Amino acid sequence: MRAVVCTRYGPPEVLRLQELPTPTPRKNEVRIRVRATAVTSSDCYLRGLRLPPAYRIMARLTLGWNAPRRPVLGMVLSGEVDAVGSDVRSFEVGDRVFGFNRHRFGTYAQYVCWPGDGLLATRPVNLTDEEAAAIPYGGLLALHFLRKAGLRAGQRVLVFGASGAVGTSAVQLARHIGAEVTGVCSTANMALVASLGASTVVDYTTQDFADRNERYDLILDAVGKRKSATALRGCRQVLAPGGACISVDDGTPKLRREDLASLGVLATKGEIRPVIDRTYALDDIVDAHRYVDRGHKRGNVVVTLP
Ligand SMILES: NC(=O)c1ccc[n+]([C@@H]2O[C@H](COP(=O)([O-])OP(=O)(O)OC[C@H]3O[C@@H](n4cnc5c(N)ncnc54)[C@H](OP(=O)(O)O)[C@@H]3O)[C@@H](O)[C@H]2O)c1
Repeated sequence: MRAVVCTRYGPPEVLRLQELPTPTPRKNEVRIRVRATAVTSSDCYLRGLRLPPAYRIMARLTLGWNAPRRPVLGMVLSGEVDAVGSDVRSFEVGDRVFGFNRHRFGTYAQYVCWPGDGLLATRPVNLTDEEAAAIPYGGLLALHFLRKAGLRAGQRVLVFGASGAVGTSAVQLARHIGAEVTGVCSTANMALVASLGASTVVDYTTQDFADRNERYDLILDAVGKRKSATALRGCRQVLAPGGACISVDDGTPKLRREDLASLGVLATKGEIRPVIDRTYALDDIVDAHRYVDRGHKRGNVVVTLP
């Protein structure tokens, strides 16, 4: 099969297209014919090992010292079940699925074997593989953090970084919960963020949201602490009594299989929609990583497989 291998930690050019043997599923695994995947910000952090020094040693010990021990990166997929291990009861050959696996990786390839009881669900029938691959990463992370913060209908939430993968999902899910959403993004993304359900959109290049004399029950930092630190320094001053500030970098998210299924239902009903910035072919994965490395993608960057 065709696959992209991460030959060492480093810039996008460390990714190489190779022929690898097609994997065979174990008893508890399904083999999925990958039709579409996504280049996520996590893929880029992992490829470049772009972590604070203290975490870098831990990551090398866990993931591999000079290169990832699991060399085929990619955490997100949409595709078709192609073979099923003898113990798997939840899927059959031919099922259309979408999913996420942040430990096994392997979706930058034509086939991947993942546990049948992992983060896999039936692909929404109304979505293409490209669209379905744009749902799990931002959707599951946003759902986790909104739940952790206990967001309720009627509350006022500010999403800082409303145009990224997590941000576009957070805006839509908060709106679905019934919250009043303010999105913060750059000028070019204002119309997109409004179209996703934000009643107010603040352009961080021309205005500091803290100067607007508004109060929020929740401020969700969907950019990440390294980049948002300065802008969010004074954010507690604009919290309503009992309000909270939470960052996508606060701890390791609990990602649940039932949440992926729920996201599928919401997408089927049109309550949430995938946001795709660019689509690349697998052969152009280096370009896709270069683009995501810039840190300003709108929603998701999707990769299609031959
Ligand atoms: N806790 C965990 O385990 C975990 C897992 C995955 C990800 N994360 C965190 O989640 C973050 C977001 O991931 P993502 O995939 O949604 O990222 P993304 O798609 O790359 O989006 C980032 C967004 O941030 C905005 N942005 C970039 N620089 C900014 C700045 N200086 N000030 C304000 N906004 C800025 C960009 O919007 P504009 O183009 O409009 O500026 C962009 O849309 C990651 O960077 C990571 O820190 C955490």
